[in-house]
Amino acid sequence: MSTSTPNSTAEWALRRQRQVLDHLHGKGQPEIGPKATISHIAIYGAGIMGSGIAQVAAQSGYKVTLWDVTQADLDRGIHTIRISLARLARKTGQPADWVQSILSRISSTTDQLAACTSADLVIEAIVENLSIKQDLLSRLDKVAKPTCIFATNTSSLLVADVSAKLDEERKQRMVALHFFNPVAVMKLVEIAYMDGTSPELLALLKAWVHDIGKVPVLCRDTPGFIVNRLMVPYNIEARQLVERGDATIEDVDTAMKLGAGYPMGPFELMDMTGLDTGYHIMKAWYETAPGLSGDPRFKPSPEMERMIRDGYLGRKSGRGYYVYDK
Ligand code: 3HC
Repeated sequence: MSTSTPNSTAEWALRRQRQVLDHLHGKGQPEIGPKATISHIAIYGAGIMGSGIAQVAAQSGYKVTLWDVTQADLDRGIHTIRISLARLARKTGQPADWVQSILSRISSTTDQLAACTSADLVIEAIVENLSIKQDLLSRLDKVAKPTCIFATNTSSLLVADVSAKLDEERKQRMVALHFFNPVAVMKLVEIAYMDGTSPELLALLKAWVHDIGKVPVLCRDTPGFIVNRLMVPYNIEARQLVERGDATIEDVDTAMKLGAGYPMGPFELMDMTGLDTGYHIMKAWYETAPGLSGDPRFKPSPEMERMIRDGYLGRKSGRGYYVYDK
C-alpha cells in the first residue's frame, strides 16, 4: 500500500513528513540496551494508569517504586496489580510464585522525594491538573539524578506546559509516555516530544517501550497526541447523538462494535477510561489548547457536568452510562 500524492502541496507535506521521520529515526537504536541506562523507574500516582505502568515495567524486569499520597491509595494500586497479574498467570500457565516474584520488584512509598532519588526514569500519572503536575515535577527535579528522564502520562495537557517549571537541562529530558487503559493489555505507548528533544533520547525511549512489550509511536507535542485527538471528537459525537435522542446508548455501542469492528462501543469505552478523564481533556482543550481553545465542540455539556458532579464516573465509581457490580 502506498500513499497517493495528488498535488504539489501533498508532495511537499509528504517530503516534510519524511524529513521529520529521518531525523527522529536516523540515529537508530541506542548502542547499549535500555536496561543498561534505565533500570529503576519511579511512578507517581497509583491509580488505574500508574498501577498499570508499574505492572508492565516490573513484568519486564525493571525495579519500580510506586508513590501516592496515602497508604490506602498505594494498597488499592498494588491490589489492582495483583489481580491483573493473577489473571495473566492463569491465562499463560505461570508457576505459583510468578505473581509474587513480579510484585517483589515493586516497592511503594508515600515519601514523595525519596521515591525518585535513585530513579533513571520518572513517570507521573497523577491527577490531570496542570499546576499540581508542575509543582510535583519541580520538586522532584531538585532531588532526581541529573540524568533522570522525566515523563508525563497526561491525556489532556501539553508536555511543554507540564514541564514549564523544570530546569532547562531537565526539559531536554522530558517527554510524554502515554499509555492506554487497560495498560496490561493495550500494546501502544505514544511518545510525545518537544522541539528540543534529542533523537538519542527518543531512540532510548523507543527501545525501552519495546523492552516492556509495547509498541511506540512518535508524535509532536500537540493536544491529544494521536489517539485522543481522534477519539475525543468521536466520543463527543456519540454523546450528542444520544443527547439529541437520535439513538440509544446501547444501540450506539452495538453499532460501533458490530458495524465498525471496534472492541467496545464509545459509551463502554468512556465508562472504562472514566467520564472525569474525558471531562478533563475537553475542559483543558476548550480553555487552553493551541488551535482548539474556544471551539464549542469541546465545551463540556451541562449533562456531562451533572454526571461528573453526581459521581457517574464510569466503572471506577460503579456507575456511568451503565451500572457495574462493585
Ligand atoms: N489485566 C490483565 N489482563 C487483562 C486485563 C487486565 N486488566 N483486562 C483484560 N485482560 C485480558 C483478558 O484476560 C483477556 O485475555 P485473553 O483474550 O487472552 O483471554 C483479554 O484481555 C480480553 O479481555 P476480556 O475477554 O475480559 O474482554 P474483552 O475481549 O472485551 O477485551 C478489552 C477487553 C481489552 C478492554 C477490549 O474491550 C478493548 O480493547 N477495548 C478497547 C480499549 C481501548 O480502546 N482503550 C484505550 C482507551 S483510551 C486511553 O486509555 C487513553 C486515555 O488518555 C483516555
